[in-house]
Amino acid sequence: MLSEEPEEQLPKENGQKAMDRADRRLSRRERESRLLVKRSEDYDVFDNVFDVPTLMIINDLKDDGVIHQIRGSLAAGKESKVYTAIAPDGTLRILKIYLTVSAEFKKRLQYIAGDPRFSDIKPGSRSLIAAWARKEFKNMLAARAAGVRVPRPIAVKKNVLVMEFVGDSEGNAVRPLIESKVTSGDYRQVIEQVTILYQKARLVHADLSEYNIFKTDSGIMLFDFGSAVDVQHPNSKQFLVRDVMNVNRFFEKRGIEVLDAVQAVEKIKGENK
Ligand SMILES: Nc1ncnc2c1ncn2[C@@H]1O[C@H](COP(=O)(O)OP(=O)(O)O)[C@@H](O)[C@H]1O
Ligand SMILES: [Mg+2]
Repeated sequence: MLSEEPEEQLPKENGQKAMDRADRRLSRRERESRLLVKRSEDYDVFDNVFDVPTLMIINDLKDDGVIHQIRGSLAAGKESKVYTAIAPDGTLRILKIYLTVSAEFKKRLQYIAGDPRFSDIKPGSRSLIAAWARKEFKNMLAARAAGVRVPRPIAVKKNVLVMEFVGDSEGNAVRPLIESKVTSGDYRQVIEQVTILYQKARLVHADLSEYNIFKTDSGIMLFDFGSAVDVQHPNSKQFLVRDVMNVNRFFEKRGIEVLDAVQAVEKIKGENK
């Protein structure tokens, strides 16, 4: 202590200067203790939800400068939980954390089995979940590269996927179609996005519905690529038909005229000659 602040003992010290310095010291301590509080808040958010390996991955992401701090929880699904986080530059990010083994995962193995990109997966739950997160990350990269409107994927580490936050400047997340007013223009955009996904990215979403399609100020966006499959996947046709039927059913319910499902599928595949 003394060696850090020797000037304090000088009798001619200007009183104001000493007080300023004390203030600075205090605010530094305050800052530090606030950081500590924030750190422990992070752990409260995750209390009893995540295992130690997941907490360690979150720490790694902090060390790597991918995130600075967890902000709060946004959504909880059967296979994953979604959190908002603050990046070191102050922008918001999304953490999608895949949960350790669930019955749902086993059921959904069919989406990974048969996809040549994931042929090296060892049985054993943790690596399977990591593969799932990696698959979603790769699918998002491929979709984005092809020009499909999806959140920008930033990093993937084991079961944790980091992507850009999509929402307004106040930190409110964008709303899914189920919570939005929709128009025939929105329907046209959905079909357009699914078409680019199929023809340019060579992917079928396979979990498309009013819950995974979002309406932003600048247009329709597709989320949630964990189930997407390559068009070569043996079930891709079946998944595409189901996706189109889900989309049609939703827009029809909202009183919007939709394409015939068979025609829509042909259009998406580029077979409507
Ligand atoms: N990049 C993002 N920006 C804003 N909100 C997001 C983002 N990603 C996910 N969300 C929110 O989290 C929810 C769940 O994410 P999703 O990827 O659909 O996971 P799940 O497999 O649990 O459905 C979304 O419906 C959306 O409300
Ligand atoms: Mg979803």
